[in-house]
Amino acid sequence: MSLRPHGGTLVQKLSLGEEVSHIKNEIALDAIGLSDLELIAIGAYSPIEGFLTRADYESVVETMKLSNGTVWSIPITLPVTADKAEDLSIGEVVRLVADEITYGTITISDIFTPDKTKEALQVYRTDDMAHPGVKKMFERGDVYVGGEINLVKRPEKKFAEYYQDPKESREKFAELNWKTIVGFQTRNPVHRAHEYIQKTALETVDGLFLNPLVGETKSDDIPATIRMESYEVLLKNYYPNDRVHLAVFPAAMRYAGPREAIFHALVRKNYGCTHFIVGRDHAGVGDYYGTYDAQKIFLNFSPEELDITPLFFEHSFYCTKCEGMASSKTCPHGKEDRVILSGTKVREMLRSGVLPPSTFSRKEVVEVLIRGMKETVQA
Ligand code: ADX
Repeated sequence: MSLRPHGGTLVQKLSLGEEVSHIKNEIALDAIGLSDLELIAIGAYSPIEGFLTRADYESVVETMKLSNGTVWSIPITLPVTADKAEDLSIGEVVRLVADEITYGTITISDIFTPDKTKEALQVYRTDDMAHPGVKKMFERGDVYVGGEINLVKRPEKKFAEYYQDPKESREKFAELNWKTIVGFQTRNPVHRAHEYIQKTALETVDGLFLNPLVGETKSDDIPATIRMESYEVLLKNYYPNDRVHLAVFPAAMRYAGPREAIFHALVRKNYGCTHFIVGRDHAGVGDYYGTYDAQKIFLNFSPEELDITPLFFEHSFYCTKCEGMASSKTCPHGKEDRVILSGTKVREMLRSGVLPPSTFSRKEVVEVLIRGMKETVQA
């Protein structure tokens, strides 16, 4: 397995400090737009060099590939209102702005009106507005602007201590002399099931890249600040220090399940991973996706075109008869012996101060979560 970035070259679109105030026209970015801009610029989305043009967008929506045939499953788009689109022209360089601060520029090469219902059905497998990713997509502007970008100012780094560009994480893995690195995506605290699948993977690879997503998530997900603290106590108490590397992934969650699993894997390849964990209902929400749809989707691609090895895991749990973590692949016992709690149930317990059992989550993690939930409620 090589450590080549997706598409072969790690994209770098940084012109930090470049003077662009003479450019009059601007496009306002929302939180997703700003995080996408930065992730393109630092090469996390290699080989993408800008927001998708119509040809690439339609190709991604329909075939999960860019128009040059490279696998890419989530359309990275820059939406504007129809009114704003009137004020833009092809070939123009425009500033990209959030909260009156200019973060970058785009050289516009396309302006087009997407078929959002088609995008919803293809990418999210539903056009139900109750789906948080679909809702967000429809709320954003109706016209997409495509073109290469440049980043002139870094957005404020959340969790600066754990913030690493793909270039830096790659250097870190080389320094650690890790040849095989498994990436782990999460938007949740690491519970016993997560720990089990990470450690099972760690039995066969050199290192674990724990890469929690800290961009925009839906409002009832546990806030990233609380999660980060929970990762710290967990790593300190239960993981071998020299085999885990923690860094944040500043992307927004799309909740696109299977398509997002492919995207998450390719991005972690850009961060330097050779392997990527896909467990049950990866990046899913509600009942929109089958438990293992996010694993099955990998069958659409050859190992060469992905060039990162997915590691699939069954739904894992603690079994009171086995007296340990297991899955239906390793445990012969019944439902009544298995400790399985839904995310919603756990959040409910935490909110009312009830401790989830240590067979579900380590006590140090639970303590952080309960304290964090209290602080969020008070705030
Ligand atoms: S996600 O939206 O980032 O995928 P989450 O943080 O819950 O959500 O999951 C992180 C990873 O752990 C995903 O690959 C997911 O499939 C996997 N996972 C979560 N819970 C379990 C479980 N009980 N058994 C097996 N895999 C799991």
